Amino acid sequence: MADSTATTSDSSAPTDGVHPTGTGRRAAIWSVVVGIVVGLFPKVTGLLAFLSPIVRSPKVPDFYADKETDGPTDYLRICSLAALEIDKPQRFAVISDQIDGWNFTPNQPIGSVYIQKSADDTVQVFNTTCPHAGCSVSINSDSSAYLCPCHNSAFNLDGTKLISQSGRPNPSPRNLDSIDQIEIVEGDVWIHFQNFYPGRHEKKAKV
Ligand code: FES
Repeated sequence: MADSTATTSDSSAPTDGVHPTGTGRRAAIWSVVVGIVVGLFPKVTGLLAFLSPIVRSPKVPDFYADKETDGPTDYLRICSLAALEIDKPQRFAVISDQIDGWNFTPNQPIGSVYIQKSADDTVQVFNTTCPHAGCSVSINSDSSAYLCPCHNSAFNLDGTKLISQSGRPNPSPRNLDSIDQIEIVEGDVWIHFQNFYPGRHEKKAKV
């Protein structure tokens, strides 16, 4: 006679050793969760590193804040007024501390200018970049004109295009670019320096 207890056994119990028990299922779930976390970790840290400049400011040395208060905001000190000779343009590198999302880099050259001082201590400032195609202009030997060696653009000392007496064409599309925001602070020349797009008739500052 068949044993009747066989028909009342638990049908949900594992019968082949493959189906996980409750403990086995929890272990399987945990291993999946841990696998996901471990897999995501490098991606999350990489994303944070990528977003870092957006979510935090670059580390700027303490002296930088003090330095900015020496002159007008967004202006750079170029030279002392006393160092300039009257009616003789002099060339100066423009040096600035650079800050981007990642780095603070002090004392970087960002361009250069010619500065002319008149007898009444007023100054004119010109960006040395040629408006034709971006070469660097220089002053001629008797300090009477600015010349570009690349394609022979020439400019008067007031920055206007120089028209050659020989009729040789001046390829520059506009006058030499003046720097118009100038301040004299306690005997020093400060400028709001800008670079401009070459090859255009209008003077347009780069941003
Ligand atoms: S770049 Fe100066 S003349 Fe062409």
